[in-house]
Amino acid sequence: MDSARPHERPTAFDRMLAPVHRWVWSDTDRRVQKLLRFSETETDGGRDILRAAEVTPDPRLRRLYLEHAIDEFRHGVLFRHRAAELLKVSASRSSPGFHGEWLAPGGHGLDDLQVDGESDIDMLAFLHLSEKAAASRFTVYRDVMQHDPPTRAVFEEILHDETFHMNYTLTQLARVEPQRHRRHLWRARSSRLWKAYLRLATGLAGILGSLLLTIQYFVILPPFAWLAKRTARREHVGWTVVSSLTSDSLHRQY
Ligand SMILES: [Fe+2]
Ligand SMILES: [Fe+2]
Repeated sequence: MDSARPHERPTAFDRMLAPVHRWVWSDTDRRVQKLLRFSETETDGGRDILRAAEVTPDPRLRRLYLEHAIDEFRHGVLFRHRAAELLKVSASRSSPGFHGEWLAPGGHGLDDLQVDGESDIDMLAFLHLSEKAAASRFTVYRDVMQHDPPTRAVFEEILHDETFHMNYTLTQLARVEPQRHRRHLWRARSSRLWKAYLRLATGLAGILGSLLLTIQYFVILPPFAWLAKRTARREHVGWTVVSSLTSDSLHRQY
């Protein structure tokens, strides 16, 4: 798709995180893993938008959704091909280490998309904000990728489409809901914020849970281990004679 409008400027938050993104993308193995993850996100997003094209009653939206879905599938292929090229030159084929997924996310947030039951208005508001977030992040990713011109070119190409997606969804939202499209945007924005909060809270709960279990392991368990060892030392070695008066286990089942 083509866009006559200029590219979206990254948000202050994404610009602030540029040094972190630079570090995340500096490692080749991490880059491969992230590109593969991005490829999945784009392809899944394309599938959902294809579904939106099937269910919308608006012929113009159907055509735009179809073109949008084709773009997202193409982005998935571009990311996957670039990851495959990097894999060929990468020394180790897989890295189980840290990939910084939450530090440099896939951009879209299209994985939150629920097509069935959504009106075109809600769909367009959600898509506009998702594409805007993608355009902002991909701008930063492109800018920090000076050390890898081919990957930078992939982001540059995809960014062009994401900017178009961001713009057409806003234009169409204003067309189908001229009076209250801003209200729908705010509602979609608060829904995204709530989901972001839930993701952050889940991540934080995971970290706190691991921390508490580690503290329990090193602080609470040692006294019990010590007591168990002391009791074991007091136990007699070998067979112990049990008085026949206190044990009648041979005469009943329990
Ligand atoms: Fe995309
Ligand atoms: Fe997009």
